[in-house]
Amino acid sequence: MAIAITGASGAIYATRTLAALLARGVHVELVVSDYGKRLLHDELGEAASVDRLMPFLAAKYGEAVNAGSVTIHSNRDQGATLASGSHGCSGMAIVPCSMKTLAAVAHGLSRNLIERAADVMLKEHRRLVIVPRETPMSLPQRRNMVRCAEAGAMILPAMPAFYQLPKTLDDLADFMAGKILSALGFEHDLYPPWTGQVGE
Ligand SMILES: Cc1cc2nc3c(=O)[nH]c(=O)nc-3n(C[C@H](O)[C@H](O)[C@H](O)COP(=O)(O)O)c2cc1C
Repeated sequence: MAIAITGASGAIYATRTLAALLARGVHVELVVSDYGKRLLHDELGEAASVDRLMPFLAAKYGEAVNAGSVTIHSNRDQGATLASGSHGCSGMAIVPCSMKTLAAVAHGLSRNLIERAADVMLKEHRRLVIVPRETPMSLPQRRNMVRCAEAGAMILPAMPAFYQLPKTLDDLADFMAGKILSALGFEHDLYPPWTGQVGE
C-alpha cells in the first residue's frame, strides 16, 4: 500500500491510518510532501517527524505497528518504485490531501512522486483513495474532486461522524482511518459497526 501525506490539516488521520495498516502486517510505501512534513510537526509535535515515524507510531498506537514495515520515499524521487505501473503496489491513499495535490491529480500533472504515484494508480485501474480537507470549497476545488472521481478515484472527505459519540480526537481519527482502511479493502475494528441506534 502507498500512503501519501500532504499539507492539508489532519495529520492525525495519516498517522492513525499508517498505524492501523502496519498493525495488520502491511508493507507501506510512504511519501510525505514538504508541507505534509510541516503539518505532521505542527499538529502532532516534534516526535512526529518523518525520520522518527516508527518510534512515534509505536509510542502512540502500540508495539503492534511493528507487525508491518515502511519504506519512505522522497517526494522528489520520480525514479522510486511507486512511479512505475510495473511495481506491485495495489492501492494508495492520499491522507490528508491538499487542494493543491487534488488539483494536480485531477489534471494528471505528475510533477512529484505523490502526483505520479496517484497517476499510476489511475492508469492501472488500482484503488486510489483521496482524503481532501478544505472548507469552504471553491468551484475549481469541487470540480477537481469530480475529475478525480470520474477517473476512478474514491473521494473520501475528512469528515468524521459524531453518531459514534467520540470523546477524544483519537476517536475522530479512528473513524476516518477505519473508513480509509475499508476503502482500501481491509477489515478493521477501528469503530463499532452501526447497530441502528446511537450509543449502542
Ligand atoms: C498550517 C497549515 C494548514 C493548512 N491546511 C490546509 C488544508 O486544510 N487544506 C489545503 O488544501 N491546504 C492547506 N494548507 C496549504 C497547503 O499546505 C499548501 O497549499 C501546500 O502548498 C500544499 O502542498 P502539498 O500538496 O505538496 O503538500 C495548509 C497550510 C498550512 C501551513
